[in-house]
Amino acid sequence: MPKRPAGIPVTLPLDPRSGTTLQRQVYDGLRAAILAGRLRPGARLPSTRSLAADLAVARNTVTAAFSQLVTEGYAEARVGAGTVVARALPDDLTKVAARLALDNGRGPARNRPRISRRGRTLCDLPTLRPFQPGWPALDQVPLDLWWRLAMRVGRRLGRELLGHGDPAGYPPLRKAIAAYVAVSRGVRCAEEQVVVTSGSQQALFVAAQVSLDPHDAAWVEDPAYPGTVNALRAAGARLVPIPVDAEGIDVRFGEERRPAPRVVAVTPSHQYPLGVTMTLARRLELLRVARRARAWVLEDDYDSEFRYSSRPIPALQGLDQDGRVIYLGTFSKTLFPALRLGYAVVPTDLVRPFTAVRSVLDVHSPVLEQAVLAEFITAGYFERHLRRMRTLYAERQQVLLEEAKRHLAGLLELAPSGAGLQCVGWLAPGLDDRTAARAAAAHDVAVTPVSRFALGRLSRPGLLLSFGAFEPRQIRAGVQRLAEALGAARDGRFAEASKAGRDAEPARRRAFANA
Ligand SMILES: Cc1ncc(COP(=O)(O)O)c(C=O)c1O
Repeated sequence: MPKRPAGIPVTLPLDPRSGTTLQRQVYDGLRAAILAGRLRPGARLPSTRSLAADLAVARNTVTAAFSQLVTEGYAEARVGAGTVVARALPDDLTKVAARLALDNGRGPARNRPRISRRGRTLCDLPTLRPFQPGWPALDQVPLDLWWRLAMRVGRRLGRELLGHGDPAGYPPLRKAIAAYVAVSRGVRCAEEQVVVTSGSQQALFVAAQVSLDPHDAAWVEDPAYPGTVNALRAAGARLVPIPVDAEGIDVRFGEERRPAPRVVAVTPSHQYPLGVTMTLARRLELLRVARRARAWVLEDDYDSEFRYSSRPIPALQGLDQDGRVIYLGTFSKTLFPALRLGYAVVPTDLVRPFTAVRSVLDVHSPVLEQAVLAEFITAGYFERHLRRMRTLYAERQQVLLEEAKRHLAGLLELAPSGAGLQCVGWLAPGLDDRTAARAAAAHDVAVTPVSRFALGRLSRPGLLLSFGAFEPRQIRAGVQRLAEALGAARDGRFAEASKAGRDAEPARRRAFANA
């Protein structure tokens, strides 16, 4: 008979001198752990023999405590599987459990430690929602291949993968990234300059920490990606919003009317959220101003792999003569966001501080995932996946643009996007983007108001629409519902719609979950 795996280890504080029997103490301890959720429904309890040995009590004591838990419905005895925590705890027990879980580890409110002002400010900022712009087509990720590579890599590297890795990243992955960004993005770097991070969000955070002291001026595009704004705020920066025009961040405006920056944070390939590509002239101007101010430039190149209208535009980093650009990339769009792997290409003198701060956060990214990704890139699968996805996303954008032309005329004017997974649409006069987004939500459509990304004044109300994750039939249906929503918002029929929308919210979640 196959050996049954051991149950989860349980520690119980027993006191043989207390007036309570040991059997009762074992029962009480296990029951409390079940109610507090430390032993979860379905979890296997240790065998009576091993628990008795661990607790240094007679096996009968444990057997009796277990059978009392079973009799009272806290646990179930399974033939051949030992004793497991009951899967369905009675309602009143779950309520007790919830209360215990809530109180777990907390004292009365007045005694609790205070959350810092900075911590609270970060919570106030918009949080990322599912189906918001920026999600890739997860159903297209070659998962079978991924698992095959994982098995291959696991077998090849064996226990080498189990120890601590290099905080700057798994060396073969750094090498693969350096080669990839050099060829496809025109980034000039040695592999030692590549630091693997937990997504580009961590790279943004670390870059802000190593480049800014509290109150230093940080120029940010207005509107901007909230992840960048949060990272700069978390470093204590004084945010200086700089408007974006058709050529990118308005460097001249900043130079003439705003304090000189210590850091300039930009998305030159595909401005987030407006979608503008920074012109060459503007890039050179930006580098000139940064040089004069002795500032760092944070280049967030989050989705430029998917460029449709022209050849990919080389990164700003490739134009940098004096090592001031920190270049950031991510695998969240090109593969999948749960991978949590991104990278920074850092000027040589910043590699050590950058790696030091990164290792304070979480030491390094999981080595197995890094090793699989390294294999995925070096074996040529990454390029193949990118090529396939570029075609797919271009088709999806085309469907969105055509449907919008047909159904949204007079309501929303979509601007074709030269790159990435989303595009921006400008609302007709009289429509406000937050109301429009709420009306859309009530019609089962998730769009993001552009004003949510604004730091100062915003010229025109608009909506951000993601097309990458949706099949053509979903895009068609979505556009039709969006047209109804915007029509209702324009005609002032949105009051009833908004209530219906709240009622429809669970259905919307289900619909997206099945999408
Ligand atoms: C502008 C921008 N930068 C970076 C990221 C990527 O973040 P991460 O790599 O942490 O998933 C995103 C993701 O949506 C983004 O939109």
